Amino acid sequence: MNIQIEKTGSYLPELVITNDDLATIVDTNDEWISTRSGIKSRHYTSGEPTWFMGKTAAERALEGIDPTTIGLIIVTTVTPDYMTPATASIMQAELGATNAFCFDLNAGCTGFVFALDVAATYLAAMPFERALVIAAETLTKQTDFEDRKTCVLFGDGAGAVLLRKTPAGESSAFHGRFMGGTGDGAEYLVGKAFEVKHPFLPEETFPERFPEHEAGRDFSMAGREVYKFAVNALPEAVEKAVADAGWEIGDVDLIVPHQANSRIIQGAARRLKVDDSVMIDRIETIGNTSSATIPIVLDALVREGRVKRGMNVVFCGFGGGLCYGAVAFTY
Ligand code: UT7
Repeated sequence: MNIQIEKTGSYLPELVITNDDLATIVDTNDEWISTRSGIKSRHYTSGEPTWFMGKTAAERALEGIDPTTIGLIIVTTVTPDYMTPATASIMQAELGATNAFCFDLNAGCTGFVFALDVAATYLAAMPFERALVIAAETLTKQTDFEDRKTCVLFGDGAGAVLLRKTPAGESSAFHGRFMGGTGDGAEYLVGKAFEVKHPFLPEETFPERFPEHEAGRDFSMAGREVYKFAVNALPEAVEKAVADAGWEIGDVDLIVPHQANSRIIQGAARRLKVDDSVMIDRIETIGNTSSATIPIVLDALVREGRVKRGMNVVFCGFGGGLCYGAVAFTY
């Protein structure tokens, strides 16, 4: 059973915030942000919730498609609007996908890659025709605008891909995967959730799980530690997914990595010995939108005609968890 990415969509809020704008809020400057991360500007919500961005990206992916043919919706987000219902359940109602079962998946910035693999696996195993994966992130919800180490990196946005079983005669197929992680580095990237309001046991019974997390902050990242992880995780995951597909690295036409830092992306291109035109770096105008970066970039590549049927593509995610993974497929 072969599966293809049938259609894509994305949504970026209209509001664009430049590095110079951020320099009016925290002690930073355009030169530091662009040389250290490759980011020049990012989009911020003007109030659109996560579900709205996800729904709009999905609607763009579903143009001309009967939503009742979708059997599964997975939403990846670290910034949902509600803990329950799952954002995917909101999508089901908004999109009229009445036959879909729905759930959210959180694996930090790797979420989209894991969800794509889960969706493809379900699709191969079950009788429905289509599955929808949406990545929607409102990272400004958890951005600490007093922390220059992190606030300059993140943006908001959403991307969606529609998967379907491939009609006979088409070359599209999923060929390889690698999924991994190391909980040992979990404390390097922490975003807080609800706290227990009325504990029955004294606090010392259940000490703070991540004491290294900076006190008083909702979000903290040990950037250098995550960087050290990412520079190895990205090329390793790509190499393993490519090997699983039975390909050589030279067989790959495009690699779309999570957009966390241009230096990580370009370093991986050198280590994998692939041309810069193969390794896609589009962080400059979107910043880091966590699990949404890959489908946002993919949608742009599809609409530009840069990715074409028959091309061998690898997606690679890495980040909080720490998790990492890659899928290798023929578009
Ligand atoms: O999406 C999830 C995965 N995330 C990642 O993969 C992110 C991985 N990490 C990174 O991309 C990089 O570590 C950062 C972009 C976050 C930081 O770059 P860096 O080269 O590792 O900088 P650093 O944290 O070592 O900081 C260097 C200096 C420090 O000053 P001192 O101690 O050397 O005097 C910081 O205080 O830069 C200072 N600094 C800033 N200066 C101006 C930190 N943030 C800023 C800022 N503007 N915004």
